[in-house]
Amino acid sequence: MDKKNIDWSNLGFSYEVTDKRFVSNYQNGAWDEGILTEDATVRITECAGVLQYAQTCFEGLKAYTTEDGRTVCFRPDLNAVRMKDTCERLKMPVFPVDRFVEAVKGVVRANEAYVPPYGSGATLYIRPYMFGSSAVIGVSPADEYQFRIFCTPVGPYFKGGAKPITIRVCDYDRAAPRGTGHIKAGLNYAMSLYQIVDAHEQGFDENMYLDAGSRTYVEETGGANFIFITKDGRLVTPKSGSILPSITRRSLMVVAEKYLGMEVEHRPVRFDEVSEFAECGLCGTAAVISPVGAIDDHGKKICFPSGMEEMGPVTKKLYDTLTGIQMGRIEAPEGWIVEI
Ligand code: PLP
Ligand code: COI
Repeated sequence: MDKKNIDWSNLGFSYEVTDKRFVSNYQNGAWDEGILTEDATVRITECAGVLQYAQTCFEGLKAYTTEDGRTVCFRPDLNAVRMKDTCERLKMPVFPVDRFVEAVKGVVRANEAYVPPYGSGATLYIRPYMFGSSAVIGVSPADEYQFRIFCTPVGPYFKGGAKPITIRVCDYDRAAPRGTGHIKAGLNYAMSLYQIVDAHEQGFDENMYLDAGSRTYVEETGGANFIFITKDGRLVTPKSGSILPSITRRSLMVVAEKYLGMEVEHRPVRFDEVSEFAECGLCGTAAVISPVGAIDDHGKKICFPSGMEEMGPVTKKLYDTLTGIQMGRIEAPEGWIVEI
């Protein structure tokens, strides 16, 4: 397979149109069989549910070229199940889990020339999404939906790659208790745009959100879960009903325990214990593991001992093991790696 002539090593996290995408329509209570199309444009009524009441959700996963030249993706079944949970919460029809995985494979296969080569530092980001496509004017779910999957080659989510970032404690909330923080609804991201633009203008890379109820506990950032490493080498990661259940975070919990013999704690994490941790990182499909060097709390800085130059040693081990599994250098737990 000839790869596209792309400067893989200098890709940022941005959209580039690729050859084919999957499209399936939901009408009269059923999904059609779907097609792969070259048409990257969506055509819908001006009154579509997605345009009026933001009835839309999405997923994100990646495909990789392994060391021995296979094309694989990482745990697509978990994205399918999470999208099912999201759809149920948003009164959208579920796209069946097995069909989701097949469609992901079909899209990667159809765009194999865009899967970055092994060792390039880039990956193929896959974006499944669904939206209400029929007209809705009273507040209610749409009758018709479109499910699509496109893909685009990407580099690191944060400029500077593995260099530690600085984040700030955000005064706005991301998700309410009993709201939609635990699902991947587009609306969660729309309402974070003001805060992320402001964070960037103030010189910060991301926002740390606290729990909206008491502003006592750490939740997550706009696009990733937190991991913390204690001074005695345990992995601590926040638990809350309004955090998105990150597939990367759930995988890292297994990697830490089963591959690195670490103790893992998944529990509410008070903001006032954060300064006690030795290392901090953001984890997610886009972020992979992005080390956090410092957290600004209204001018008061929490600086982690791991510093601003490189990843802390435990974070690095987690990063190397996870990416080793994804790139086929380390044997994966059963079912984690799906060959295209
Ligand atoms: N938290 C939020 C709010 C996200 O948008 C994402 C990205 O998907 C994550 C966490 C990380 O989840 P995952 O590891 O499944 O990509
Ligand atoms: C992902 O990591 O896949 C996400 O959806 C996060 C988003 C901020 C890019």
